[in-house]
Amino acid sequence: MESWMEKAGNIIKNGGLVAFPTETVYGLGGDALNPQSSQKIYAAKGRPSDNPLIVHISKFEDLAPIVSEIPSCVYALRDAFWPGPLTIIFKKSDLVPYETTGGLDTVAVRMPVDPIALQFIAASGGYVAAPSANLSGRPSPTKAQYVIQDLQGRVDMILDGGPTEIGLESTIVDVTGDMPVILRPGYITKEMLEQIIGKVDVDPTILDVACKERPKAPGMRYRHYAPKGDLTIIKGTPEQVISFINEKTTENKEQKEVVGVIATDETKDRYWADVVKSVGERQDEASIAHRLYTILREFDDEGITRIYSESFEEGSMGQAIMNRLLKAAGHHYISL
Ligand code: TXA
Ligand code: MG
Repeated sequence: MESWMEKAGNIIKNGGLVAFPTETVYGLGGDALNPQSSQKIYAAKGRPSDNPLIVHISKFEDLAPIVSEIPSCVYALRDAFWPGPLTIIFKKSDLVPYETTGGLDTVAVRMPVDPIALQFIAASGGYVAAPSANLSGRPSPTKAQYVIQDLQGRVDMILDGGPTEIGLESTIVDVTGDMPVILRPGYITKEMLEQIIGKVDVDPTILDVACKERPKAPGMRYRHYAPKGDLTIIKGTPEQVISFINEKTTENKEQKEVVGVIATDETKDRYWADVVKSVGERQDEASIAHRLYTILREFDDEGITRIYSESFEEGSMGQAIMNRLLKAAGHHYISL
């Protein structure tokens, strides 16, 4: 009898779509080498088709056929971070259709570490194109229930692997130029990459709150991860932030708004908002990353119309966390 995994693999081989867990967020998978599958992915997500997809592989030997060149630093990156939450941009080979790369001559490749993801990719013929399994503009899904909310009826199967471990999308590094460049920050930090391959640049649009330059990863241009409530990030000392948010909460409640706050374990008991959610202890960056999208989704389900968040710039993953939070807030940021 056909196993679930074989069934999922056959759906992909026959041009269908399957949502699957990875260690970062759930992915919406299709056959990366089939142009129609990629078009289906864009349609299911409601995503602009100039926004390229990541090709997921399950073993390193599958890399060579889809790229035209493997720069030498890639072997060191592989030894340190693959399988894992690192996506690498290569010059593509003719095997990869332009439908998958959004018209670009480069291709993004990732080998996830999640065992269900690896089995599924292998069962699907080895090359699974997958963006995050959310509708365009919604937070990336960290649980199968959020995939169901967004994509039920739009995909042929959803594999449930429980909550994802990391909760933020992979780090993207472009190795096609003279110097490697981080196009999207993530769990694998700049420092971690530099320990392995020496100096790495960061696309300036990632860090700057008010940056008007065009990001190099097309997907980073769009407003993403948007919660339904109006989200503002507040930066200052803890005392400043708490009293500012409480003042605003009073005003907002008078206007019949439902107020939510993204707080930390250290501060959560001091807010007057209708719903206060903690991302964990302030020093525990993995917990902040893990909780962020889930909290944004929960606020949506709870009908929160106004959200305030503390700022999380410190630490090695601060860049990745703030990058996602700023995008969710449409860059709505107040520094006290
Ligand atoms: O953790 C992840 O990477 C998840 C899981 C499912 O693997 N996937 C994910 O895919 O986040 P997506 O499509 O939501 O984001 C992919 C990002 C987009 O910003 C896209 O523009 C960028 O990668 N990208 C893909 N191919 C690219 C390329 N050839 N050059 C530059 N950026 C590229
Ligand atoms: Mg996405």
